[in-house]
Amino acid sequence: MRSPTTTLGVVGAGAMGRGIAQIAAQAGCRVLLCDVRDGAAAEARTAVVAQWGRLVEKGRLSAEAAAAAGGRLEVVDGLPPLAAADLVVEAIVENLDAKRALFRQLDDIVRPDCVLATNTSSLSVTAIAAGTADPARVAGFHFFNPVPLMKVVEVVAGALTGDRALELLATLAGEWGHAPVRAADTPGFIVNHAGRGYVTEALAMLRDGVADVATIDAILRDAAGFKLGPFELLDLTGLDVSHPVMESIYRQYYDDPRYRPSPIAAQRLAAGLLGRKSGRGFYRYDGGANPAPALPAAPAWTGPVWVGNAQPDAADAARALLHKLGVRVEGGIRPSESALIVVTPLGSDVSACVAGEGLDALRTVGLDTLLPLARRRTLMRSPATDPAVAAQAQALFSADGVPASLIDDSAGFVAQRTLATIVNIGCEIVQQRVCSPADLDRAVELGLGYPQGPLAWGDALGAGRVLAILRALQVRTGDMRYRPSLWLVRRAELGMSLRD
Ligand SMILES: NC(=O)c1ccc[n+]([C@@H]2O[C@H](COP(=O)([O-])OP(=O)(O)OC[C@H]3O[C@@H](n4cnc5c(N)ncnc54)[C@H](O)[C@@H]3O)[C@@H](O)[C@H]2O)c1
Repeated sequence: MRSPTTTLGVVGAGAMGRGIAQIAAQAGCRVLLCDVRDGAAAEARTAVVAQWGRLVEKGRLSAEAAAAAGGRLEVVDGLPPLAAADLVVEAIVENLDAKRALFRQLDDIVRPDCVLATNTSSLSVTAIAAGTADPARVAGFHFFNPVPLMKVVEVVAGALTGDRALELLATLAGEWGHAPVRAADTPGFIVNHAGRGYVTEALAMLRDGVADVATIDAILRDAAGFKLGPFELLDLTGLDVSHPVMESIYRQYYDDPRYRPSPIAAQRLAAGLLGRKSGRGFYRYDGGANPAPALPAAPAWTGPVWVGNAQPDAADAARALLHKLGVRVEGGIRPSESALIVVTPLGSDVSACVAGEGLDALRTVGLDTLLPLARRRTLMRSPATDPAVAAQAQALFSADGVPASLIDDSAGFVAQRTLATIVNIGCEIVQQRVCSPADLDRAVELGLGYPQGPLAWGDALGAGRVLAILRALQVRTGDMRYRPSLWLVRRAELGMSLRD
């Protein structure tokens, strides 16, 4: 059954307001659009109509449907015409005082049964609602940019939001072709909270001197399957947008180290290295030279190879690959004098393996076996690894045409620490009852475009393995950032799915 709501007020005709107006009018709602700046709502309407014209040209919308949608999208002058609305969505400037002032004005204009929704990304829905006569009718309705393409919306319950408002928003979202996910009013809601892991861990790796940005990006794209590397993503979003979000979520969680932003980002923001929009970010978009992942600087290792046994499954994966690469794999419990030594740390690094197993540091490298070794491999060297040996190992592990990246000692390589962090933050989100496990994974897949949601990913990697990585990371670095969520710990202990 269609919801009875047919008249939607949209306040703020910027990037978000016009997108919301577009999908709602297209889906059959009557939309009343207004903006504080003269002419802004009319400009937005013109842009939306032009967008419908492009959809008609591409055959994605019929000319009749476009004309009908156009007839439903009305520009109104000021707030009084919103008296006719069943729902008003605000998409004005991200400022608490401005939003509270707007909602107080709307209180005196709209009907008592009209639902008031805010598209805020970072402000508290509860705080916005607190200034209104009836906080039960105020909820968050958080869309993503560009609205017509990002087919997920967070329906956010403030402390006093009533079920009627939430049900109405979820029903409408579905009718507009968007997947509604329910979130409690907490810093970053679901998507911006879950997204902290990827970029903050990448910035931590840069700070640690693990590898350059191109190498980190290549590993996470090729080996882990992200569409964009974290630094490509930061350049696309712009540090002027993403760094304040990182800081805001960190501060709202009272400086929880899980969300700690990076001084590197703060400094680059101060320098104006925003990303694509300023022509220069972690990469250059002004014609300047860009780094690429380094290639092996030596011929491939041809001698025998010995693989450490500390992680039996990982060692088996390493041996299988080495057989395929055509080198002789030694079978003994200790390496011979002439062997390249390969260790497979989980959450730890090469130095720790050398010290723990009494190995020859000069000829020891690490191989990350967490993910399939088919698209890109990651090798790690310690400060004591002979550079010539490391280069020969890199050439050996890329001899079949699959690139191998060489990084410096990093507890948990690149992929392990990044994926473990993403899974851990996802677990913490559901532990804190921000949302259901299913809504978390759906929100992350649709809102962040990750290959899998954090909980499905954790299940695929194995909760026990993710826990082992985090525990080793915490011990190795002493950083509480890596402390495992109890959601993860308990499910690993009980052999349960992270989605249960
Ligand atoms: N841009 C994004 O990626 C994104 C994503 C999700 C949520 N949001 C949130 O959506 C909201 C709008 O963001 P945007 O990117 O569309 O901003 P924008 O700057 O593109 O548009 C804001 C519009 O609101 C108008 N406005 C400002 N104050 C007003 C008022 N008091 N009354 C009426 N109109 C007013 C401005 O004239 C402007 O046209 C913000 O709360 C933002 O945090 C933005």
